[in-house]
Amino acid sequence: MTMRIDVLTLFPEMFESPLGYSILKRAQQQNIVTIALSNIRDFATDKYRKVDDTPYGGGPGMVMMCPPVFACLEHVRSQAPEPGRVILLTPQGRPLSQPKVEALSAERRLILIAGRYEGFDERIRQGLDAEEISIGDYVLSGGELPAMVLIDAVVRLLGGALGDEDSAADDSFAGGLLEYPHYTRPEEFRRMRVPEILLSGDHGKIARWRHEQRLRRTQQRRPDLYANWLKRTEADNAIPKTRNNENQEIDT
Ligand code: ADE
Repeated sequence: MTMRIDVLTLFPEMFESPLGYSILKRAQQQNIVTIALSNIRDFATDKYRKVDDTPYGGGPGMVMMCPPVFACLEHVRSQAPEPGRVILLTPQGRPLSQPKVEALSAERRLILIAGRYEGFDERIRQGLDAEEISIGDYVLSGGELPAMVLIDAVVRLLGGALGDEDSAADDSFAGGLLEYPHYTRPEEFRRMRVPEILLSGDHGKIARWRHEQRLRRTQQRRPDLYANWLKRTEADNAIPKTRNNENQEIDT
């Protein structure tokens, strides 16, 4: 089943290079994903092709207007039967995370709207029942790069997008932990040696070492992720206590 991703933007050309290489290029060639770019300005209703205006109530900057965005979306919707989930890229959205990326990769159609200027007229979010997603707590000059980040993260999870040698199973955040360290030839480089255990050929030991490395790195670098992982692991391993007739816990 091919996923369809529509992108509504004022700068469709910005997407050409990131979509033209490596995994994203291959996934489109293999019909794993279809990515359709639409220029919101083509749907402006006045002769100046205006897409933004000054904010009601005053203040700095310009606001993306409703009419061109709604018209563009309605056109895009008419191009394929699946209605699709509408996502606005804004710094006000929920932060993108790997579990969110996994959930989005199960959708059949995504419609991403990248904004410019101070932001969108609030009625765009409201009227389109759109979800807002942020790629982090910093402000970029538009939603195009965030849309590309989202597309990259989602498409690489689609079946067949990663080659045989690649795998998403050991990625950082898979299972809520960071990745273990990787090494390749040569065995020694500028007096830095590959850990002996990786040369041992003992796959059981190597798997245990890698798991410990994931735990240690996550604990050191991302105590927030580590605390969540511990909580989940403890909940998964909790053995229900047996109780006696007085309803007291007993060891069995
Ligand atoms: N637009 C501007 N900054 C953004 C961010 N951090 N995430 C998503 N969209 C944005």
